Amino acid sequence: MKKININSIKSLKFKEKISMITAYDALMAKIFDEIVDVILVGDSLSMSFGGADDTLEIGIDKMIYHTKSVCRGTKRALVVCDMPFGTYHNKKEALKNAIKIYKHTKADAIKLEGGKERVDIVKELTKNSIAVMGHIGLMPQFVRAEGGYRVKGKNETEIEKLIEDAKALEEAGVFCIVLEGIKADAAKKITESVNIPTIGIGSGKDTDGQVLVWSDMLGFFDEFKPKFVKRYLNGAQIIKKAVKEYVQDVKNSTFPSEEYWY
Ligand code: KIV
Repeated sequence: MKKININSIKSLKFKEKISMITAYDALMAKIFDEIVDVILVGDSLSMSFGGADDTLEIGIDKMIYHTKSVCRGTKRALVVCDMPFGTYHNKKEALKNAIKIYKHTKADAIKLEGGKERVDIVKELTKNSIAVMGHIGLMPQFVRAEGGYRVKGKNETEIEKLIEDAKALEEAGVFCIVLEGIKADAAKKITESVNIPTIGIGSGKDTDGQVLVWSDMLGFFDEFKPKFVKRYLNGAQIIKKAVKEYVQDVKNSTFPSEEYWY
C-alpha cells in the first residue's frame, strides 16, 4: 500500500477528484485510511466531539493528541492537522507550533485559515519544511470576528478578493486550498485560477475535491444538518437501536449468555 504524499495530491489536479474526510481518532482513521485520499484532523473536533459552539476553544495539545491517534490508525492516506485558533498569529508562533505538531505527530501537513494576510506566515512555514494546506472562504475561526458564519463569493468584489487570496497562498507555497462555504460559481473561478488543487466544502461541484466532517456525513451529529451535508448513513439511529437491544438484554438477563462467560 503506497503512502499518499503532498506531491501525489498535487498531481491529482486535472486528473482525478480528491476525497478528504475528517477523523479525530485511530478507530475511525483505520476505517477511512484505505478508502480516502486525505484525512483531516480538523478543529471541527471541538464542535463535533467536544460539543462546543465553535472551533475556537481547542488548543494545540489536544490537536496533537488527536492527530497522534489518527496517525496511529493511518498507513496510506495523507494526514493533515489543523492549526488551532491563536497558534499562528505571527511567524514566530506559527513556526514554533507547526514544528511542535511535526515533532509530536506524524502529520504530513498542517492547515491554517486565511488569505493574503497569512502569506508571510505560510512562507515562513514552507521555508522551514512544513507542508501547508490553505483554507479560505467561510473560515470557522473567524466566526466571532465576523458575527456568524457567512457564505462568501456573493459578488464581484468578494470573488476578486478570494481569487487574489488563492493566488497569494499558491505563490507562498501551499500545496492545496480548502474552499469552504463559497458560492459554486465563485469556487469554480477560484479553482481555475490556481495550479494547485482546491478541496471544497459547501462550495459546489467544480472544486478539485471534496471534504466532509465524518460525524455529519455518517449521521452521528443529528441535531441539525447544514445544506451542504449529504448523509450517507443514519449513524445515530443505528447505534441507538443497537444500544437499546443491549440494555434490554441486560435488563432481561439475556446478556451475557453462556458463550460470553469464562
Ligand atoms: O475543521 C474542519 O473539519 C475543517 C473542514 C470543515 C474543512 O476545517
